[in-house]
Amino acid sequence: MDLIYKVSELKAAVEGARSQGKRIGFVPTMGALHEGHVSLVKRAMQETQFVVVSVFVNPLQFGEGEDFDKYPRALGVDANLLADIGADVLFAPSASEVYPKENPIPSLSAGELGEVFEGKSRPGHFDGMLTVVNRLFNLVEPDAAFFGAKDAQQVALVRKMLAEQIAAGKRSPIQLVECETVRDSHGLALSSRNRFLSPHEVDIARSISAALTAAAGHESAAKSKAAALAVLNPEARLDYLELVDADSFEVLDSAANKKARLIIACMVGQTRLIDNLVIDRTA
Ligand code: PAJ
Repeated sequence: MDLIYKVSELKAAVEGARSQGKRIGFVPTMGALHEGHVSLVKRAMQETQFVVVSVFVNPLQFGEGEDFDKYPRALGVDANLLADIGADVLFAPSASEVYPKENPIPSLSAGELGEVFEGKSRPGHFDGMLTVVNRLFNLVEPDAAFFGAKDAQQVALVRKMLAEQIAAGKRSPIQLVECETVRDSHGLALSSRNRFLSPHEVDIARSISAALTAAAGHESAAKSKAAALAVLNPEARLDYLELVDADSFEVLDSAANKKARLIIACMVGQTRLIDNLVIDRTA
């Protein structure tokens, strides 16, 4: 595996692979890799012949008072893990490589879908996320990009951005692959932030996925929310719990005949955690 810090070297590596007829797969991350990230890399390796993983803790997607400074960073460990799996390139740029002062890159706006749920609680987060994903897509120009369903609103926004850019003739198509959420043996969605949880907080956090599972059998939003709240540990401070359309995030009263998603965000101690579950009633 090549550990690459510079844009010019990244482009050369990708062009080399493309000229050999290889399909390029791309997995953007902020590092501190866990089995959730690993599942994306493995999927990328199954579906493409040259896999680029990026590790970049993007300052633009952290708000004031959020955890940018204390976000876990473990590049050496991440590099070893990715080399063991067999990724081709680890791209770990500095902020000045991603956002060169001499050549300002465009800031993207996430629009209305970027202002609800995660976007409401984290103003500017999705603008920063789309700005870096767009920048990284422009650098890698992948054939396929791999994202986790855990961050469902992120996937929906990236999908919308790609559809708009492709429709406007601004970019070649990129296949967007949404990969299932990887969980621990108690159902807790893996997250780089889980390492901040004390053992007691891990117990509290595990009630989040249990709450979603308890709700899954119900069609009405009111009933599914009540079932979830009955299971959620009261020490988890709820931000939102909502039944929404799985792709548009429009709020639903009922999952009947819909592909719906129950979405949840909680603070556990000082750590913000999110999760979601698809409730598919289209069959
Ligand atoms: P990060 O939180 O590091 O996540 C990188 C990718 O891993 C995202 O697509 C995320 O959804 C996926 N992922 C995280 N936990 C997962 C789990 N338990 N199961 C499956 N996939 C999981 O998301 C970001 O970074 C950033 O916003 C980024 C897209 C890199 C832009 O900066």
